[in-house]
Amino acid sequence: MASEPLLLLLALWALVAPARPGPAGDGGWRRGGPAAAAEEEHCTVERRADLTYAEFVQHYAFLRPVILQGLTDNSKFRALCSRERLLASFGERVVRLSTANTYSYRKVDLPFQEYVEQLLHPQDPTSLGNDTLYFFGDNNFTEWASLFRHYSPPPFGLLDTTPAYSFGIAGAGSGVPFHWHGPGYSEVIYGRKVLYFPDRWWHATLNLDTSVFISTFLG
Ligand SMILES: *[C@@H]1O[C@H](CO)[C@@H](O)[C@H](O)[C@H]1NC(C)=O
Ligand SMILES: *[C@@H]1O[C@H](CO)[C@@H](O)[C@H](O)[C@H]1NC(C)=O
Repeated sequence: MASEPLLLLLALWALVAPARPGPAGDGGWRRGGPAAAAEEEHCTVERRADLTYAEFVQHYAFLRPVILQGLTDNSKFRALCSRERLLASFGERVVRLSTANTYSYRKVDLPFQEYVEQLLHPQDPTSLGNDTLYFFGDNNFTEWASLFRHYSPPPFGLLDTTPAYSFGIAGAGSGVPFHWHGPGYSEVIYGRKVLYFPDRWWHATLNLDTSVFISTFLG
């Protein structure tokens, strides 16, 4: 275990300023309701644009998280991730949901359309992680290949690691309590920034609004 948990709350939506607010910029995922949680004003994670690979390795890869800006252009992937297009392409596909607690064990399979239309609503803030079903990870990369081949992962790899994707969509107010795992990236699709998290960096996630995101775990 890491000796001193970094008490940082990673608010996925707060990492990004939506490219354009409103129906075009949010892919149809924000359905007009108020955000379930207020945005923190103060974010202590460094933000870097135009970072070189050498700087990344020296200052961040093994030391601290960083928000990377302007790293890749995923506009095609983003367009394919609109609510309408994902439902048209994958509505009937069965997705595997997990509970949102740290050590998730309960799994539920149901059609993607049913998840989006019936379960993807703002969470009651008092609901427990183990009672919240969440679509993140457990992706079928064969069935969803036509989508994932358009994703450009962050280009900075780490020696002896292979990237693995986890894709998800979650409702406002959902998230995962404090936990850690190996290093990797988390990219919010309706945004323009990528968070890098080092190995065993303690964090929690909170989706301030309905969020579409993809993580690239380097393991
Ligand atoms: C979730 O955790 C609470 C508190 O530990 C427990 O009372 C409840 O039964 C759990 N729910 C499920 C679905 O496991
Ligand atoms: C992914 O989908 C394919 C085609 O429907 C199926 O044959 C395969 O078992 C699925 N893989 C997993 C890991 O669910």
